[in-house]
Amino acid sequence: MSFEKVAEASEIQSGNMKKVMVGGREVLVANVGGKYYAIGNVCTHMKGDLSKGILDANIITCPRHKQKFDVTTGKSVEGPKIMFFSPKGKDEPKYEVKVEGNDILVSTD
Ligand code: FES
Repeated sequence: MSFEKVAEASEIQSGNMKKVMVGGREVLVANVGGKYYAIGNVCTHMKGDLSKGILDANIITCPRHKQKFDVTTGKSVEGPKIMFFSPKGKDEPKYEVKVEGNDILVSTD
């Protein structure tokens, strides 16, 4: 498995997140309680930009229709809200993360 440096640890403080590009894909890197996680950044519903959403502990809420994902697993924990129904959401891909010194690296595959 190969990794690519995406940010410095000091850039993503606990409770924060950042959109990065890895292997041509948009990836969301989130810091939850001092540990880093990476999932797809493009919402599986209608391509909302998750980095513009709200991160509350380990749950990111899409800014468009409020689908919620667990950033530690990529799983959709609540579907998008459209009018009066809330279909089941699709999961985001999850990527491996490692920290070397002050560098955050994300797997390219
Ligand atoms: S685009 Fe994310 S919930 Fe619709």
